[in-house]
Amino acid sequence: LHILVLMGGWANEREVSLMSGNGVADALESAGHRVTRLDMDRDVAAKIREAAPDAVFNALHGVPGEDGTVQGMLDLMGIPYTHSGLATSVVAIDKELTKQALVPHGIPMPGGRIVQSDDLYESDPIARPYVLKPVNEGSSVGVAIVTEDSPYGNPIARDAKGPWQDFESLLAEPYIRGRELTTAVIDTADGVQSLGVTELIIDTGFYDFEHKYTDGKTTHVFPADIPDNIAALCRRYAERAHKVLGCHGTSRTDFRWDDSQGEDGLFVLETNTQPGMTPLSLVPEQASHCDIDYPTLCEMIVEDALR
Ligand code: DAL
Ligand code: MG
Repeated sequence: LHILVLMGGWANEREVSLMSGNGVADALESAGHRVTRLDMDRDVAAKIREAAPDAVFNALHGVPGEDGTVQGMLDLMGIPYTHSGLATSVVAIDKELTKQALVPHGIPMPGGRIVQSDDLYESDPIARPYVLKPVNEGSSVGVAIVTEDSPYGNPIARDAKGPWQDFESLLAEPYIRGRELTTAVIDTADGVQSLGVTELIIDTGFYDFEHKYTDGKTTHVFPADIPDNIAALCRRYAERAHKVLGCHGTSRTDFRWDDSQGEDGLFVLETNTQPGMTPLSLVPEQASHCDIDYPTLCEMIVEDALR
């Protein structure tokens, strides 16, 4: 096949996307496919039209590669592409819309409220401790945890500065103490399949951008050392989220688990429709534990796009 791997662009997660895209491109080449690599710019439609690939492998992260914009363009062009479609992407990129979609289907997510970054200065939006995050970013870009002794100073002060300050629409969510878990889901020829549960263990602080992308800063434990009922719930929620949102190819659902609360302490934070795809990322890592090597995973995602 001739596959165009779309990556980079101008998102805050540009560098992560270049790592995902180049990893995928190398793997697809090693599997014998003809690959065109494209760092997305404003002429992306003309460049894809000229390359005329059999399919586009979407290795973009963040806006506009993960929010439906690129998906709509490819729909109009009539070119098959990997991962989720337009409507799914619009909902899943927005952490608040995701809640509105998933909670009615019995998937527990933390409460909280949307605030505009200007409103923050009037009062704490919800009781501390809470997490402040842009509604539509990935890789923990712009995320802060506001505790009683927040290192950002008092966010109710007018001159308060923090990671959130460059984003307009923010989600303030109760902070769930405890453990960080994640489950990948893939579409196979036989249907939707979850791959297991990984626990992310970090030294200090929280699972932020630095922990996600600095070698040795986070330990991935697979399978997570958690009770069977919690692992089963993670898999059930991740598969249900994938189906309810209408995801395609692969998705990865992230959790917090307060282990003092048993099953009641498990919460879904979000479902990522364009999860990291570097050879060392969580989805490829879980796949490899299931005997699906990285090139095979990349090919499965392409096959799903052509089904
Ligand atoms: N947003 C990053 C790429 C992830 O979800 O893995
Ligand atoms: Mg994310």
